[in-house]
Amino acid sequence: MVHLAPYLRLFCLLPGFFLLEARAQSAAKVVASAESPDKKLSVEVSLTADGNIAYAVKRNGREIISPSRLGFILANAPKLDRNFGFESANTAAQDETWEQPWGERRLVRDHHNELSVTFVQKELANRHLTVVFRVFDDGLGFRYALPDQPQLKALKITDELTEFAITDRATAWWDVAGEWNREEYLYNKTPLVEVSEAQTPITLKTNSGLYFSIHEAALVDYPAFWLRRVEGQRLKTRLAPSSIGPNAECDAPFVSPWRTIIITDNAPALYQSNIELNLNEPNKLGDVSWVKPYKYVGIWWAMHLGLKTWEGGPRHGATTEETRRYMDFAAANGFRGVLVEGWNLGWEDWFAKGDKFSFTQSYPDFNLAEVAEYGLSKGVHLVGHNETSGNAAHYEEQMDEGFALYQKYGVDSVKTGYVADAGGAQVKGPDGTVHYTWNDSQEMVRHYQKVVTEAARYHIAIDTHEPIKDTGLRRTYPNWVSREGERGQEYNAWGHPPNPPEHEANLIFTRMLSGPMDFTPGVLSLEGKGQEIQATQAKELALYVVIYSPIQMAADLIENYAKYPKPFQFIKDVPTDWEETWMINGEPGDYATIARKDRHSDDWYVGAVTDENARTLSLPLKFLDPTRSYTAQIYRDGDKAGYKGAARFDIVIESKRVKSTDVLPLKLAPGGGQAIRFVAESRGGSPSRP
Ligand code: NOJ
Ligand code: CA
Repeated sequence: MVHLAPYLRLFCLLPGFFLLEARAQSAAKVVASAESPDKKLSVEVSLTADGNIAYAVKRNGREIISPSRLGFILANAPKLDRNFGFESANTAAQDETWEQPWGERRLVRDHHNELSVTFVQKELANRHLTVVFRVFDDGLGFRYALPDQPQLKALKITDELTEFAITDRATAWWDVAGEWNREEYLYNKTPLVEVSEAQTPITLKTNSGLYFSIHEAALVDYPAFWLRRVEGQRLKTRLAPSSIGPNAECDAPFVSPWRTIIITDNAPALYQSNIELNLNEPNKLGDVSWVKPYKYVGIWWAMHLGLKTWEGGPRHGATTEETRRYMDFAAANGFRGVLVEGWNLGWEDWFAKGDKFSFTQSYPDFNLAEVAEYGLSKGVHLVGHNETSGNAAHYEEQMDEGFALYQKYGVDSVKTGYVADAGGAQVKGPDGTVHYTWNDSQEMVRHYQKVVTEAARYHIAIDTHEPIKDTGLRRTYPNWVSREGERGQEYNAWGHPPNPPEHEANLIFTRMLSGPMDFTPGVLSLEGKGQEIQATQAKELALYVVIYSPIQMAADLIENYAKYPKPFQFIKDVPTDWEETWMINGEPGDYATIARKDRHSDDWYVGAVTDENARTLSLPLKFLDPTRSYTAQIYRDGDKAGYKGAARFDIVIESKRVKSTDVLPLKLAPGGGQAIRFVAESRGGSPSRP
């Protein structure tokens, strides 16, 4: 009994209370419902006596999301909230399998039932609002659709009223939203009733053993939402604010991004879900064979350690000579890319300003044409870098000229950056003047997408740092290959505190549910700027498997790889594009083991990571082809390994012959991990590849 009017509360004290309670609840009338294909999950759409729209979710007939409100508050018209009547409901079904150009898996099945419910506000000139639900076996998505209607043409949205009222007591893994450092905060694990305002995806586990991930899909031309806890376990969307007007301005016909809820009864199933991708539009770019998954090294970690500088001068990192050295290393070790940061003019006093950046002119000691041609002669591509300092307005003025130049030099991917405090991004408003805004605002959502679509015209892929959150748009724009959007390796250089041992086990079940992350693993020297990286070498290797990205950096200084040639072999071998992905075991914040099959060979790779606790997991090799034998090349924590001091370097590298019926023990040290390459032997018994 949540919403009884005061007079009903009084009567509740009297005999007959249950009858009254039943009447109060029946005041909300279910007008339409839909089930998942396996019939376990259902959504019910209802109208209250006041004409408020709500939805509720049941699993195996039991309510798991209590009636949760839907609607909008508008600045230019009465709100799209109460006084609705039911008009119609339509259903549809889909079961199709589509292919990804690159990804965690090649084939993705989209199997869902759809329900569209249309409501009308008769007293407000017959304004219509439709809510479309798609119910999958492992969750659901819903979005608003506003038809073309003369009485409500332009929507100036000040607030979206969507709620998620979680029925069972839950624990939440979440990071704070709307704070100055954008998404780059450590995760909290708290009872759901202690969440304040969270970024999404937020992950929940209920005391009944269900796992939820709440997020959004296909965020296009609309602000991102944050989740504010209203009361109890009721969460509500809060649209990222605009600094110049209503939070969202949309013209009918309009569809909102999808609001998504993955619901599973185990944590690995949460990770396996394809709901995010399935709720995005298919590829709009046509032939994207020019988008290449790859690994890269770069002039990067040296700046984060303070050994080199981005700006020109005596310690300038991006010199022609240093780039050639990295290109030689890349060519010798099979890396396709060399990222060079600080190559372009404007890095003096850049933070939160960005107005001095040139995206075409190099510092005098960096010869773009020369290094690009030198690299290409060895099959190595320069990876472009465009730090904007959040000054999107300035970047947009030069972006096309920059992309054209890069294309000329074989630069087919660019890492962008938006280092500014939240609320400090700069965009050009409708009146042509520049103002500050949130990275999550509608204006910046438009900007991030514009960069990707403009880059596509030059066959350039984009890796966004300080990005808008990932909502699966890589399906529609496959050149949006990766992004940051949480604390990456850089925090191990200078973060206070650095990333704790549980960080990756948190990421895998939260941030990673939204899409690829350019975490930049592989710092085998395990040393930041005067602080230890709290991981073992085996864990640094495992990150290449457990933190998915189609572009992966080997982030350490290249001279450090010469010190650790044996573990470095795994970084050279591991691919970045997969045929299949299976999470074998895992729990949010504790541990995870993921097996992936290489898209271009018969080999499999496994990565396992743990938090600060040592643990032994078991790895049944059922995923391997039962008709073959494999050589398992194992990179594991030694007996004395741990995430502090010399113990970080205790790694054992060994080989074993295995078959699909075998079960391997995974012994993980505190803060440790394990990486395994399974090389398929040829049918005759010897490895099919060296
Ligand atoms: C922040 C990015 O995440 C980092 O990778 C980059 O080196 C700096 N910005 C400078 O652009
Ligand atoms: Ca960053």
